[in-house]
Amino acid sequence: MIEALSSLITVRLNERADGVIILDQTRLPGEEVYLTLTCAKDVWEAIHALKVRGAPAIGIAAAYGLYVCARRIDTEDPVAFREELRKVKDYLSGARPTAVNLSAALERMEHVLDTHPMASVPVWKELLRREALAIREEDAASCRRMGEICLRLLRPGMGILTHCNAGHLAVSEYGTALAPIYLGQERGYGFKVFADETRPLLQGARLTAYELSKAGVDVTLICDNMASTVMRKGWVQAVIVGCDRIAANGDVANKIGTSGVAILARHYGIPFYVLGPTSTIDLSCPDGDAIAIEERDPGEVTEMWYSARMAPKEVKVYNPAFDVTPHELISAIITEKGLFYENNE
Ligand code: MRU
Repeated sequence: MIEALSSLITVRLNERADGVIILDQTRLPGEEVYLTLTCAKDVWEAIHALKVRGAPAIGIAAAYGLYVCARRIDTEDPVAFREELRKVKDYLSGARPTAVNLSAALERMEHVLDTHPMASVPVWKELLRREALAIREEDAASCRRMGEICLRLLRPGMGILTHCNAGHLAVSEYGTALAPIYLGQERGYGFKVFADETRPLLQGARLTAYELSKAGVDVTLICDNMASTVMRKGWVQAVIVGCDRIAANGDVANKIGTSGVAILARHYGIPFYVLGPTSTIDLSCPDGDAIAIEERDPGEVTEMWYSARMAPKEVKVYNPAFDVTPHELISAIITEKGLFYENNE
């Protein structure tokens, strides 16, 4: 764990294991406020409202949430228990559509019942607790491994541009895209990071700039439309981003704007790396067109962050939360097991 960030814990179970504690990311960078989620509705709303966000973190929050709800299912009958658990699982799965980690973590939790079909309900509950904790532990270990693999592709003093927040706040520890940056920081690499602000929800400004500054990393915040300028000036030697779903052909869904950054990187001859744990790979999606892209409230574009509305009342708004970067624009997809996709063009 990066020392300076050890006080920020994105998601955890509370001591009595009857609630999920999350750091409310909608309150950052102004305040570090923790919320305790005690029912399925709390967890659904926290994920939907991006109080907890980032693909791996929502998977972990949902797994913990499912366990907390499972504990309260008041029956010893395995059939009735399974039915209740399935209802909560399906409900939580619908909180956000694009990050596969959400449904994958919930599927994995339910699968525990299938792998121990003869176990009693109390044993199932204990197994669900262990599975949720394992999802979290595996995420932390994956992030570190991805960071090490990516760091080998980087050199001290490089300028690195990142989009959205794929850092400590988006996972359990270290982050995906920010993991090599933190490891480099620990080893004196002196990276200079450019963080896109990431309209409309400002994950780059509010979260990436916040956690990198807190960790003492040299970070410069830019508006999304400034990426071309910093690349043209020769200040960026690598782009590193996270991902929400990786299709079988290597197309990647990530925060809206990522594909534009990849096009710019190709134009300027800058390598574009995507970091994601294997849990983000969805082999049932043949390509990026099969990935469901979340569309969010128009108010995020017209009003949020402004003191007055900044768009005509009746204007049509299109507010996709993610986009797909085609695999041809990606230099490498780095997972905890090594390279899932490498483009040698
Ligand atoms: O809408 P968000 O903030 O959940 O979007 C997050 C991203 O797009 C991240 O880049 C992605 O989830 C990877 S997080 C390690």
